[in-house]
This record gives sequence, C-alpha cells and structure tokens, in this order.
Amino acid sequence: LRSPIWLNGKLSEASVAVLHVSERGFLFGDGLMETLRIYDGRPWAMAEHRQRLAAGCAALGIDCPLAEIDTGLATLLSAAGLGEGSARITVTRGQALRRGLLGTPGVSPTLLITAVPGQPYHAEAYQCGFQAVTVSFPRNQHSPIVNLKTLNCLENILGRNEAQVAGADEGIFNNLDGELAEGTVSNLFLVYQEGRLVTPPVACGLLPGIARQNVLELAPEIGLEACEEVIRPGNLGQAGEAFLTNSLMEVMPLVSLDGIKIGSGRPGPVARHLRQAYLNLVHHHVT
Ligand SMILES: Cc1ncc(COP(=O)(O)O)c(C=O)c1O
Repeated sequence: LRSPIWLNGKLSEASVAVLHVSERGFLFGDGLMETLRIYDGRPWAMAEHRQRLAAGCAALGIDCPLAEIDTGLATLLSAAGLGEGSARITVTRGQALRRGLLGTPGVSPTLLITAVPGQPYHAEAYQCGFQAVTVSFPRNQHSPIVNLKTLNCLENILGRNEAQVAGADEGIFNNLDGELAEGTVSNLFLVYQEGRLVTPPVACGLLPGIARQNVLELAPEIGLEACEEVIRPGNLGQAGEAFLTNSLMEVMPLVSLDGIKIGSGRPGPVARHLRQAYLNLVHHHVT
C-alpha cells in the first residue's frame, strides 16, 4: 500500500477507501477525533488520548472502539513505516439509517486512522514564535461540546481563517465573559513574574489539551510553579512571555496578540526551557 489508512477493521489504500454516503461524521460532524504525535514510530501520550476519546464518546453516547484503535494504530504505523510524524483517530456515530438528527441504536461507530510523516512545525516557527489575533466571536464556555475534540470544527476554522487574513499564526478565543480561553488549535499559557505559569481553567471554555496537561505536570520538575487561573486581556501586560501548546507543536512561543508585544516580543526562555524538558520527557519514554 502506498498510502495506508485504517478504516473500519482493515488497512486500505487512502485513494480508494470509501465512507458510506450516510456517514454521520460527514453529514452532521457527529463524532470525535484525536491528533497524536508519533516519535520514533511510537504514539506519544497514547493513554491520555485513549482516555480523552473514551470520555468524549461516553459523553456523546458513542461506543468507543478502543481495542480496534489499539490494533489499527499499531498496524497502520508499521505498514506506513512511520518514524516521525502524526496520526489522527476519527470516531463517528456511524451511518445514519434514517432521516433526522437522532442516531439509530445498534449502528456501529466508524473508525478511521490516518498517519502522516514529518515534523509538523518548522524549526523556524520556534525561533520566531507565533503571532496571534483575538477571534472576533466568543467561545461559549457553557456549550456541552466546548471541552470535547469534536468533528464540529467550524468555529475553529473561522477563527483560524481570521488569523490568516490578519497575517497571524493563530487566533485566540475569548469566552462569553471576555476571559481568554484557548487558540483555534492550541491551549494558552502566560508566564508571570518569577516563572509563575498560568493557563485558563477548563471551565473558561477550552479543550483539556494533552500537551497542556504534560506542561502542567512538567513545570514543577524544572522549578516552575504552574496553575490554572483565569486570564483577562488586561493581564497580558503583566506577562513576561507566553506560549501555546498542542500535541503537534509541543511548546510554541507566542510573541504578540493583536499586534501588541507580549514581554520582549521575542520567544522567551521559559518556553524554550519547557520545550526542551518536554522533548527530554518524550525521549526518555520513547527510548
Ligand atoms: C481547540 C483546541 N484546543 C487545544 C488543543 C490542544 O490539544 P492537545 O494538546 O491535546 O493536542 C487543540 C488541539 O488540536 C485544539 O484543537
């Protein structure tokens, strides 16, 4: 197979694999996904990704095919001969066997796993840092799906497009109370005086990111205090630096918001130090 994927129980060639036209993921965005980083042929933080997916499936009433995910991912990674790269697991409620929004009981979920080789972000990005703009519409922190990694990506897509139009790398959502929530594909951290790290609590309306959790746990090990704390736009001036996290970017310096410099306006030492510690942790587990 030239471009193998895993679909519903077997390896297939990407260009010829087919999804049913009644697929609810396609028709309604009725499903969830996980994006994982692959280092040295192995998925990083797989336990956390499985757990988040299982919790999301439970919240949506989808039967999470965990055993097939394990088999499928392992089979795909070896078939693809993937060393460095990323993988995406997509689980949907399956086919719509009748008209309307309600799912049909007894229908099996659809499972698709894809993988792509290569480093997701350029070394240059880490050297320059990301610039962000505030997205023009709010994150609804009360939405029942705001904490899930769903296939309903339209708000993120619109926010990301706004950032691109503004010549920025990422869009940051404020929530309905005007507090900072997260980026369109990332979680946000600020670094206050004496290396105190803060990230908004999940209740502010964000995805509980796995890289975010990794950073929260890693910080004390390298002598940083880290906590979840509400961030308001007025707090940005107090930050010495800021950074974004996700499973693919790991720790990305954030140097400005809406054209206003954060700290020195250049990637800071805490982000650099944390990314190194993150990669050391990965290396330690992978080897
Ligand atoms: C909206 C949003 N927030 C946060 C994250 C970070 O999540 P993770 O660290 O699990 O990759 C993502 C990941 O893509 C995301 O899409």
